[in-house]
Amino acid sequence: MTAPASAAARASARRRFLADLTAFALAAASAPLLRAEPKLADSAAVRHWLQQVEALSRQLREGAVDSAHWRREIDALAAATPLPEFLPLLQFDRALAAARGGRDPVKTFVSLAEADGSLRKAAFAAAYFVFAKGQVITPHGHRGMVSAHAVVSGRLQLRTYDRLGRDGDALLLKPRLDTVATAGFSAAISAVEGNVHWFVAEQDGSATLDVIVQDIDANGREFALELVDPLAAETDARGVLRAPLIDWERSSRRYQSAAG
Ligand SMILES: [Fe+2]
Repeated sequence: MTAPASAAARASARRRFLADLTAFALAAASAPLLRAEPKLADSAAVRHWLQQVEALSRQLREGAVDSAHWRREIDALAAATPLPEFLPLLQFDRALAAARGGRDPVKTFVSLAEADGSLRKAAFAAAYFVFAKGQVITPHGHRGMVSAHAVVSGRLQLRTYDRLGRDGDALLLKPRLDTVATAGFSAAISAVEGNVHWFVAEQDGSATLDVIVQDIDANGREFALELVDPLAAETDARGVLRAPLIDWERSSRRYQSAAG
C-alpha cells in the first residue's frame, strides 16, 4: 500500500503504544534520558556489541531475519560482552539514583549516539530497568516488538514462557525458564520463545539493560502488552498452560502484592 497509509498506521500504532505503556504503569515510573559517555566507544568489545545489535535490529525491522534469529544472536552477543564493566560509561549511577520505592521498577532510556554517531537513528532503543527488592514486572507477553534483557546488577527471579498461541481469552504458554539471574545473564524474547516474561527483584539495585526493537511483525505489527495470569493457568497433558489474559489492576493485585 502507499507510504502515507503506512505512516498513518505507524502513527496510530505509536499512539496505542503510548496509551498501553501508560496503562501498564511502567511508563509512570520513567526517569530522564541518560547519555552514554563518548569514551564508551574506546572499547572494541562495546563497539562490536553496538554495531552487531544495530545490524541485527535493522535486519529484523527490514524483515531480513526473523525474531527467533534476533533473539539467539542478541543473547549470544550479550554473553560475549562484559556489559557490567561498562556501566560507569552508561551512567548507571544516575539510573540507580532514580530508583525508588513503591511497586514499580524505574525505566530509564539511554542514548548511545554520543558513543557512536551512527546510532543517532538507531533501529533499537536501550533502557535500564532498576528494581528495589520485591519490585516486580508482572507476567506479560508482547506483540509488535521484541526486547532483550541483560542483567547488569543484583539478583532477579526470572520466569519466561514460550507463546504458542491464543485461545479465546487466554494465551497458550510453555514454561521456558525459571531461574535466579545475576550479572551476565541475558534473556531476549522472540515472537514465540520467551515472549512472556516475569521479573521479581531479590535485591535492591537489581537492574537489566534492555534492547528494544519496535515496529516489527511479531504476533502482528500492532504494539500490545498482554498481561496474563500463569498462576491461574490450566495445564494440559502436554504441559501447555492456558493462562488467562487479565487487566492491569488484577495483574498488580495478584503479582505485586505477592512479591512485596
Ligand atoms: Fe516485557
